[in-house]
Amino acid sequence: MTVPIIAIDGPSGSGKGTVSRLLASRLGWHLLDSGALYRLVALSGMLRDISDGDEPAHAVLAATLDARFETDAAGQERVLLDGQDVTLDLRAETTGNLASVVAAMPTVRGALLDRQRGFAVPPGLVADGRDMGTVVFPAAGLKVFLTASAEERARRRYNQLKEKGLAANLAGLSQEIHERDRRDSARSVAPLRPATDAVIIDSTGMTVEQVVAQVLALAREAFPAI
Ligand code: C5P
Repeated sequence: MTVPIIAIDGPSGSGKGTVSRLLASRLGWHLLDSGALYRLVALSGMLRDISDGDEPAHAVLAATLDARFETDAAGQERVLLDGQDVTLDLRAETTGNLASVVAAMPTVRGALLDRQRGFAVPPGLVADGRDMGTVVFPAAGLKVFLTASAEERARRRYNQLKEKGLAANLAGLSQEIHERDRRDSARSVAPLRPATDAVIIDSTGMTVEQVVAQVLALAREAFPAI
């Protein structure tokens, strides 16, 4: 049986995470937050004092990652790395930036492929990332490329970090987003780009609800059984 998959790709701060989480919950499908896997590899390397450029060591970490995604009794999601709660460290901008460095390493990407594909189990999967529609799930029944202007994305990231009680600086974030976009789009393996059959949604000026409604409408066309 083929599992229905919605691939949601796009740059940092485009709202993919929030939209994907809501879609998965409305459809009762599984969620793959693939960025969290790259963040976990980066964090695991930092905790082990592995140098940023050491590809072989990061590939080993990616292949042996001991990560668990849990929801506690209060409905809060927690991520455990080697049994330790790293939920907050994972979302920090430093982790995101280092994640985009290790994500450019082909052997790291290769080591995470099977783990990502393992999330495709019934009743369905919403997969959030940069290469879900192009590399990891090229046969996904619906591919969306979600984007927004760089200014709006920096503003959203700023608000997100503030809400979580983390330090944030709008000008710094804006610069980091530009740098991360550049690195993610310029890398030779799985660069950030829409799949040829992706529907492009520019969410600048749209509410989260409007984006979710649009993707749900596309999903009903792509998967008439839902
Ligand atoms: O989406 P998130 O900000 O958590 O991703 C962190 C970094 O991981 C991205 O900047 C990107 O470099 C990398 N990534 C990737 N491929 C994915 C998901 C994330 O290269 N599918």
